[in-house]
Amino acid sequence: MNTQDTAQTAMPSRVTPEALKARKGGTPIVALTAYTAPQAKFIDPHCDLLLVGDSLAMVIYGLETTRGVTLDIMIAHGRAVTRGSTQALVVVDLPHGSYENDPAQAVQSAKRVMDETDAQAVKLEGGVEMAAQVQAIVDAGIPVLGHVGLLPQKAEHRGAFKIQGKDDKGAQQVMADAHAIADAGAFAMVIEGTVEPVARAITEEVAVTTIGIGASPACDGQILVTNDMVGLFADFTPKFVKRYADLGGAMEAAAKAYAEEVRARTFPGLEHCFGVRKS
Ligand code: KIV
Repeated sequence: MNTQDTAQTAMPSRVTPEALKARKGGTPIVALTAYTAPQAKFIDPHCDLLLVGDSLAMVIYGLETTRGVTLDIMIAHGRAVTRGSTQALVVVDLPHGSYENDPAQAVQSAKRVMDETDAQAVKLEGGVEMAAQVQAIVDAGIPVLGHVGLLPQKAEHRGAFKIQGKDDKGAQQVMADAHAIADAGAFAMVIEGTVEPVARAITEEVAVTTIGIGASPACDGQILVTNDMVGLFADFTPKFVKRYADLGGAMEAAAKAYAEEVRARTFPGLEHCFGVRKS
């Protein structure tokens, strides 16, 4: 066996869209967002799915909503995440403006993502009105993760993020959106910011897996924005986020300690320098 054969055999295979679809009602799917190669490397062993979410507009680029990122930016981050991970399914968000016009635009953008990132699927936001786009991308052989309920790309400012399904009409709309996306061939869908009974009912009714964020423990899986979950985004914290670490606090403490040592000339020490004669 030559070195190349060994490398090929040793390479773990990634979770597939089909495998995630088959998890309906089974062990919950673990999903997190990822934006960079090192971040992906840390979280990949614990996740079934890594989403290169357009939430990076807010948590990486400091924008007020998710609307300000381009396909080129998503592709650059998508490439970084596939480079930094080996086993989770990597899904890249199609950003605002890259798919809504018509199915042909959606297919073109999805193809660019697949060709240029090595990701395994794309995600797009929308229900009934985006079903034709989902169907066209799936027909082109590209797996699609749907996204219904609260659709961040529709919000022009932060105050416009509103929980969905609160009244009968709203609940029927989210339900219809979920059915449309499932019928169009999505392998799974994110349900975001939707009242719990509606998210639960969707999960019971649709044949594909549901991944909740601010939705329901009954969903077939859960996703969080990693930067929220580890305390690296402090601008605001939605009710549905649970913080599992305070990396922002740790980073601030490290910067403070470093600053004190530089000002006191205790860093660098001679052990951090080159060409120092040992006495
Ligand atoms: O962009 C994103 O991070 C998302 C998740 C919130 C599901 O769409």
